[in-house]
Amino acid sequence: MNLDEITFSKLTLKDVKTNETVNTFIQAANDYLGAIGYTEHGYRHVTLVSATAENILKELGYPKRIQELAAVAGYVHDIGNVVNRQDHGQSAALISMHILRQIGFTPDEISLIVSAVGNHEEEIGEPVNPVAAALMIADKSDVHKTRVRNPDLEHFDIHDRVNFAVDKAFLKIDKEKKIISLNLSVDTKISQVIEYFEIFMLRMNMCRKAAKFLNCKFELIINERKLL
Ligand SMILES: [Fe+2]
Ligand SMILES: [Fe+2]
Repeated sequence: MNLDEITFSKLTLKDVKTNETVNTFIQAANDYLGAIGYTEHGYRHVTLVSATAENILKELGYPKRIQELAAVAGYVHDIGNVVNRQDHGQSAALISMHILRQIGFTPDEISLIVSAVGNHEEEIGEPVNPVAAALMIADKSDVHKTRVRNPDLEHFDIHDRVNFAVDKAFLKIDKEKKIISLNLSVDTKISQVIEYFEIFMLRMNMCRKAAKFLNCKFELIINERKLL
């Protein structure tokens, strides 16, 4: 798809944020994941991912309209958890397609958004276009203590521990040097850096692939030390 030949609507993230079905599904999806012990995937997560995906493309100089589509993709990317955690990227893509069509997004715009949403899971995701690449990086870099819902520190699993140990996560985009770096501050009393690698290796590989698609290098910096 040539980004210069796309038919655009004038719709924005605001039109998606004010859609009742979108909001109900985001809330329900987050509740269902909570019921099976998963970390937070609600408004905090999708709002942050939306803003980060938009910002990545903004910093790298992509057209305003493409930035907006990345913001929309970020907002709806986890909506498929309303169906099932398994393959939630695929169901999110199909649910989004239906809703975005109703709201009035053009088929070109919907193609970009649903392909990004359908490629955000690390097992099967590929950076098929800039929106997908930005979403992959934005989603995988949201690791933070506020995402942990299990109140019982004694019974934290590795995901809880790693998230709980991160009190600062910051994505820096250096357009000149073409480097996208994820900067984390990790409390090693709670989780060792090695644990982070254990569950995030696949995700970091995905970020590396996505950054490469955007003509950048991906770096992981933990406690001011460059690890990747
Ligand atoms: Fe997801
Ligand atoms: Fe997500």
